[in-house]
Amino acid sequence: MGKVVTLTVEGLTVGYNGYPVVRNVCFSVKGPALVQILGPNGAGKTTLLRGILGLLKPIEGRVLVDYVDVTGKPEKSSRYFGYVPQLVMSPNTMYPITAWELLESTYMLYRRRWPRLFPEESAKRRIMEVLEAVGLPRDKWYRTFWKLSGGERQRVLIAQALINDPPILLMDEPLSAIDPPGRVEIAKLIRCLKSTKLILVTSHDPTLLLDYTDYIILINRERFRMGRPDQILVADIAEEFYGGVVKYVKEHLHIYDSHT
Ligand SMILES: Nc1ncnc2c1ncn2[C@@H]1O[C@H](COP(=O)(O)OP(=O)(O)O)[C@@H](O)[C@H]1O
Ligand SMILES: [Mg+2]
Repeated sequence: MGKVVTLTVEGLTVGYNGYPVVRNVCFSVKGPALVQILGPNGAGKTTLLRGILGLLKPIEGRVLVDYVDVTGKPEKSSRYFGYVPQLVMSPNTMYPITAWELLESTYMLYRRRWPRLFPEESAKRRIMEVLEAVGLPRDKWYRTFWKLSGGERQRVLIAQALINDPPILLMDEPLSAIDPPGRVEIAKLIRCLKSTKLILVTSHDPTLLLDYTDYIILINRERFRMGRPDQILVADIAEEFYGGVVKYVKEHLHIYDSHT
């Protein structure tokens, strides 16, 4: 079983240039568990994740991991968090680097920070472990990252987030930039990781992971609500956050918010 960990977010207000995007976010959650963060495009999901990580210094509030204050300190929070940023295809990020090299460089960055925890002789074994954990076929390990499929790239980014064996994973739309069959496979991987980690995953379609979801956070700018899926995915609450794009499909609630 995974390590028990508690993430506490107290009155977190995060934004840009002093202007808040999300306000006064408060929750506490104990892992291993899966939390889905849902909200329409522009709601502030990415901003919230960056605020929790400390990549954006919060305007107000605190972030505590096991009661250690990591607010606004990515160098401190990176011991506890693995971050899977949203996968975006951009000419600026199409490095000619293989999956293996990407993980090797990530390991070396941790090694620079914590040399004793990340000895050089363990690098190879650790990279193999995480690539196997995410199910990237061996023949893809030495391929250029940007020549991999969307699902394979997502696996590499998840492997990268696992390299320091963090108790908490923050994943930003890991199911969005891949084709539907690949999406199901990544959802299976997230389900598997959930048994050992506290996972916070942003999404605009909660259905794929719904059966494994312990809590749902609905967020839209200053609005915030958290609860068990059956408490949150009810029409009146979802409509409050998504406006008119919510409808019932049979007895299930479907949110058809379209993302770019
Ligand atoms: N780098 C930035 N500088 C200024 N404002 C930003 C920046 N990134 C995002 N925002 C603002 O924050 C809002 C929330 O964005 P984001 O957190 O990316 O939403 P989501 O991830 O839910 O789609 C956006 O509508 C935008 O106005
Ligand atoms: Mg986002």
